[in-house]
Amino acid sequence: MRVVMMGPPGAGKGTQSARLAHRLGVPHVSTGDMFRAAVAAGTPLGITAKGYMDTGRLVPDEVTLGIARERLGAPDAREGFILDGFPRTVPQAVELDDILAAREQALNAVVLVEVADDELVRRALGRVVCGECGKVYHTEFNPPPSGGCCSGGVLVHRADDSAETVRARLATYRAQTEPLREYYSQRDLLRVVDGVGSPDEVFQRIEDALGGGNGL
Ligand code: AP5
Repeated sequence: MRVVMMGPPGAGKGTQSARLAHRLGVPHVSTGDMFRAAVAAGTPLGITAKGYMDTGRLVPDEVTLGIARERLGAPDAREGFILDGFPRTVPQAVELDDILAAREQALNAVVLVEVADDELVRRALGRVVCGECGKVYHTEFNPPPSGGCCSGGVLVHRADDSAETVRARLATYRAQTEPLREYYSQRDLLRVVDGVGSPDEVFQRIEDALGGGNGL
């Protein structure tokens, strides 16, 4: 199954994408995670991406499309994937369609997770991530185990989770990513899901939106 997860920053895309990928046995492909790994490794890609990420702007399409093309061409993504945070602009969506068309494939669905702005900010400000395995927690809504995450994993706040940067990321989302709602709606792929509630409740809604029977 080939699914795109979209939604504003902090909506729960990463949390739900990980669950869905596990359920379907397909890779969870997150461009945000790929950029953060490049930043941590200090690669030229990471140095370029960091300036955009730290100020809540999108990494330019030509850079993002390069890494997306490469990742989607990997053997494990040939038959299915959950795309988390890609595409984020109309040119990225057009390119994704082209990549899939060239291998006679198409998306099955685009899930848009909706959450009100004040809740998004609370979610981002309380987020902590395991530096070892990348598992995402929230200090209030989804606290990590008392002994920490995996052995030795230090829990860290993301560099772009300050109140100011979260507001900038929201503005970027409204201006550059929201047009995809219309793009996918016209193609009858859009499934809008209420992202408020426990992660289990939201996951159930996503399963229902995807039809429940398609390998779920
Ligand atoms: P990215 O990492 O994709 O960030 P984002 O879209 O801003 O989304 P987040 O990761 O902040 O949130 P999420 O929706 O995944 O929520 P999560 O599950 O973590 O991108 C980062 C940056 O990289 C971008 O700003 C951009 O610069 C660049 N980039 C990435 N892709 C790009 C692209 N395609 N083009 C150009 N640039 C790109 O949940 C958030 C918190 O809430 C967690 O603490 C979680 O535990 C908690 N939570 C989750 N679900 C619930 C729930 N149901 N109830 C209560 N709390 C919950």
